[in-house]
Amino acid sequence: MARILTGVQSTGVPHLGNILGAMQPAIALSNRPENEAFLFIADMHSLTTVRDPEILREYTYGTAAAWLAFGYDTDKNTFYRQSDVPQVTELTWYLDCFTPYPMLANAHSFKDKASRLSDVNAGLFNYPVLMAADIILYDADYVPVGKDQKQHLEMTRDIASSINHQYGDIFVIPEPMLDEKVMIVPGIDGQKMSKSYKNFIDIFLPEKQLRKQVMKIITDAKSLEDKKDPDNSIIVDLYALIAAEEKTETLKDKFRAGNFGYGHAKQELFELIMDTYNKERIKFTHLMANKGLMDEVLMKGAEKANLVANETLNRVRGKLGYNLRG
Ligand code: TRP
Repeated sequence: MARILTGVQSTGVPHLGNILGAMQPAIALSNRPENEAFLFIADMHSLTTVRDPEILREYTYGTAAAWLAFGYDTDKNTFYRQSDVPQVTELTWYLDCFTPYPMLANAHSFKDKASRLSDVNAGLFNYPVLMAADIILYDADYVPVGKDQKQHLEMTRDIASSINHQYGDIFVIPEPMLDEKVMIVPGIDGQKMSKSYKNFIDIFLPEKQLRKQVMKIITDAKSLEDKKDPDNSIIVDLYALIAAEEKTETLKDKFRAGNFGYGHAKQELFELIMDTYNKERIKFTHLMANKGLMDEVLMKGAEKANLVANETLNRVRGKLGYNLRG
């Protein structure tokens, strides 16, 4: 049985790009009987940037509701808030003391901001160590990572290996699980769909607002009558990621035939989204209106996570020269 651990940033409701590119593949992986999955919402990492308690909480619920709406199996797996297992901060300190300063100064996530050092808090600088603790605390065998997180996982491996080297085997060294095929989900402006570019589609929005987002997809200036190139359209690209192949072919034929406007195409994409995610939208709305249901599920997950965390911590405490607890 392999333990697969996934951490998700809680910076708002996951958008279509997150869902197609990360969430659905992660859920598929977690459903396989040979895997045991840990999934948590990295709400302590959020404090490096989010300074409004209401927003911080809301982001966590939005993230949790989306994963649950898409059917994440919380009985089979372990789903929790990072902050509900605060032992991770104790481990972070231990790891800190074995993390060379230059390693952190070299992190892309830090270097991107190094030109404005006055904006960098110690938490942001230390971000990779908290992430290493997230992983090591739960004896994770595999961590699915995209390109942007690869370096963080390498740091995790380096820190854990260096402690193992000095104290004997304490930690499981996690392996990265690289996406076999990276799915490219374009945003409404054609760049990669991303929260920071504000070009995302939020499939959980109320109908009217969702339609408005879809209608904002950028197109060229061809008129309704003109024949259009389906291989050069953000609308078709998004449609193809969601629909079955025959349906996409039908849409492409309409593009080539002419007398089919971009407005019509967007309407079809909008209806496809509404149909495809109808069940998930209902569940999401229900959970957001009943946050207590999510608290219950997340606390149950935190209890399971606690057991593993306490055991790992005692292993470290003893080796480093501290008393065991609990
Ligand atoms: N840093 C990750 C991101 O930005 C989120 C994260 C926090 C994470 N802790 C983790 C991912 C542990 C994997 C494992 O997406």
